[in-house]
Amino acid sequence: MDHFLYQGGALHAEDVPVAEIAAAVGTPFYVYSTATLERHYRLFDEALAGMEHLVCYAMKAASNIAILKTLARLGAGMDVVSGGEYLRARAAGVPGERIVFSGVGKTRDEMRLALEGGIRQFNVESEPEMEALSEVAISLGLRAPITVRVNPDVDAKTHAKIATGKSENKFGIPISRAREVYAHAARLPGLEVIGIDVHIGSQLTDLEPFRLAYQKLADLTHVLRRDGHDIRRLDLGGGLGIPYTSGNEAPPLPSQYGAMIREVLGDLDCEIEIEPGRLIAGNAGLMVSEIIYVKSGEGRDFLILDGAMNDLIRPAMYDAWHDIIPVVQPEPGAEQRPYDIVGPVCESGDTFARQRMMPQLSPGDLVAFRSAGAYGAVMASEYNTRPLIPEVLVNGQEFAIIRARPTFDEILNRDTIPEWL
Ligand code: LLP
Repeated sequence: MDHFLYQGGALHAEDVPVAEIAAAVGTPFYVYSTATLERHYRLFDEALAGMEHLVCYAMKAASNIAILKTLARLGAGMDVVSGGEYLRARAAGVPGERIVFSGVGKTRDEMRLALEGGIRQFNVESEPEMEALSEVAISLGLRAPITVRVNPDVDAKTHAKIATGKSENKFGIPISRAREVYAHAARLPGLEVIGIDVHIGSQLTDLEPFRLAYQKLADLTHVLRRDGHDIRRLDLGGGLGIPYTSGNEAPPLPSQYGAMIREVLGDLDCEIEIEPGRLIAGNAGLMVSEIIYVKSGEGRDFLILDGAMNDLIRPAMYDAWHDIIPVVQPEPGAEQRPYDIVGPVCESGDTFARQRMMPQLSPGDLVAFRSAGAYGAVMASEYNTRPLIPEVLVNGQEFAIIRARPTFDEILNRDTIPEWL
């Protein structure tokens, strides 16, 4: 459920007409709903009620500081994957003890930044990384709390580019080597081993792969405890999928996910962490774009938008489906016709949808891409020197620009000309 509904024939973000935001900030833009973000965070928090837990929002999904602050004030922790994300989390007021640091390629500079600033734990992904982290921690007179990310070799049954839990993926250490790797970690004086981490992929629409992975984690907890490690925290990663179509797609609910976690891991006396990104932000955001031209091709009609693949890359990159709806509600029973919906970038890949059934639309009409809150703005680029599009946050009847569209001067002034030119 989200808070983007038609009211009186006009699409609203909570209580604000989307067309009013478009008039104020220009198109294209992203708009997020505070109520939806809050609701999704609370669903996870409540799903784990009764177990010691922390919901660490995977901020790679949408990392505007205003979004982070919205979640942080409810008590959310953050899952960060770079020094930049760590600094954003801190700028949003998240204390170090609520930040976990994930990622396969943390640099020593990033480790230092997080150790000096305060960190809940590092989710370490390899032995070379363990050694580097131990050295950095010792140089600062500290011990770094760690979990090791194990790769449980389960098939997440999701898109190949976002599956991470099979042995051929670059992530984590093979679960078959876990005992050796934990023994190695325990010998490193700059580390404090506190738990185990797993993340098997993103946009999972079935609980079974999670259950298989978590069962392996439960077994491993017993084995590692017998080996003398104080396993007291389990980080279960993110990955719970969302419905991208208004049809009958129904991924498991956070409450069902939570019940499964309780069933599989509830009696281990471990603190549970989860790292949801998409489910918190995905359906909390729209991308809104204006139709520039309607072009009749041979046998097909194109809606040419002012938004493009550089603004929302998911369709080009993952063949992802986003529902695209008119901002003015079509009359009930209005005739629909197929359009190819494309952006202005000079690549055929700049296609959002092919032969999508839409009501009759004209230049100047606005359309909204649903489920664009996660992996939308954060994956945007300035390809074709198209400015990064603004982000807007709605809260009830209010809205605010939370990242302004840069001016062309700002963009051009970032380039510097060498002396010899
Ligand atoms: N934790 C770790 C270690 C991750 O790598 C990820 C996502 C998450 C948590 C959050 O997963 P989520 O709950 O959002 O599924 N750009 C792609 C998705 C990439 C996901 C990368 N890792 C997309 O647009 O579908």
